[in-house]
Amino acid sequence: MNPSFGELLVPLEEFTRLHANTLRRFGRHAVDLAFPNPQFLADPRPYEVLASLAAQAGPPDLRYSPFGGFTPVRRRLAGALAKQHSLPYTFNDIVMTPGATAALHTVLRALFTPGDHIILFSPCWMDYPLYLADLGLPYTLVPSKADKHLDPGAVAAAWTPSTRGVIISQPSSPTGVTHNPTELRQLAAVLERHTQPGPPLLIADEAHAHQSWDCTPCPAPAAYYTHTLTVRSFGKAWEMQGQRTGCLAVSPRLTPRHETATALLRQMRISGHCAPTALTQQLAAALCETVPDLSGLADLQRHTRRQLRAAGVTVLDTHATRFLYARCPCADDQKFVARLADRGVLVMPSSLFHEHGWFRIALNLGAPGLDQAIAIICEEYARA
Ligand SMILES: Cc1ncc(COP(=O)(O)O)c(C=O)c1O
Repeated sequence: MNPSFGELLVPLEEFTRLHANTLRRFGRHAVDLAFPNPQFLADPRPYEVLASLAAQAGPPDLRYSPFGGFTPVRRRLAGALAKQHSLPYTFNDIVMTPGATAALHTVLRALFTPGDHIILFSPCWMDYPLYLADLGLPYTLVPSKADKHLDPGAVAAAWTPSTRGVIISQPSSPTGVTHNPTELRQLAAVLERHTQPGPPLLIADEAHAHQSWDCTPCPAPAAYYTHTLTVRSFGKAWEMQGQRTGCLAVSPRLTPRHETATALLRQMRISGHCAPTALTQQLAAALCETVPDLSGLADLQRHTRRQLRAAGVTVLDTHATRFLYARCPCADDQKFVARLADRGVLVMPSSLFHEHGWFRIALNLGAPGLDQAIAIICEEYARA
């Protein structure tokens, strides 16, 4: 029996309170490495393009857009994604959404019916179970392997006659693991074994797709499994999370392709989500071929990993995202995170990601704040 969405909200809201209280208590001395809100600008280009779009905008540029977004925007995104996934996307396959959150909610509500069983991997992005519980979709959290990579065998074991879908994040949030082609092929093989009452859907959450900071290739799940819906977040890619821009992409090989896209568009209308704002849609089109400069993030990742490992902290070996995923010195991750918060350092306990015993650091700032926080983490680690 899965927890209710009310029960799932308890730890999330407790952490939100701890976060707010710590910021209030420590003021500018707090070091906030919890939610991914970078305090420095790694790549100014998206900000420059947005400023120039705003400066030139007239009423036609700020008009209502259709529910899936402006057609020229969708066309450009389809072209960019076609190159990245090596699949022939057209504009009809793309639905613009106000962030990846709305994309996820839209696909779950439009393409599944209450009682459909979904498989997730733990740890996973914190709100997947919340959405599923809200929509009456029972789920199984399948543990990842010790290195936090996919375990296709565990998916096969968790399959039930009512399983209709699997959700993965690639690269993985919260860990930063990049699933490799072999793992994606094995996962696809498990899905392909189940064809009744229709092919199961794979939801590939690529919210962090542009954040492979050491250039490790990040293979697209859609290239391995036919019935895949991809979720993207442009806010995340350009460090403008508050601008709420993302999209859904229906694989051109998915059947029924056009009916699926229509169901998503209808759901956008029914839920009142609407497409992102007119300007951020234009921004998405302008930047869809641009790869963000991640050199600053790569330096921070290497620096932080070196310092933590030198102090004996176990840090997961990963290649993507702004996150580091590290083992707590005690089983109770919330207790360890509360101790750090008591010293003004905010990180997230892994229990929010539906696994115990780890914590997640978001590299939101550089020295001296980051070094201070690392020193405190290492001290508390040694003390535990
Ligand atoms: C895996 C994953 N999916 C979705 C989201 C939500 O993204 P957005 O801010 O575009 O709604 C996040 C945000 O951190 C995430 O990590």
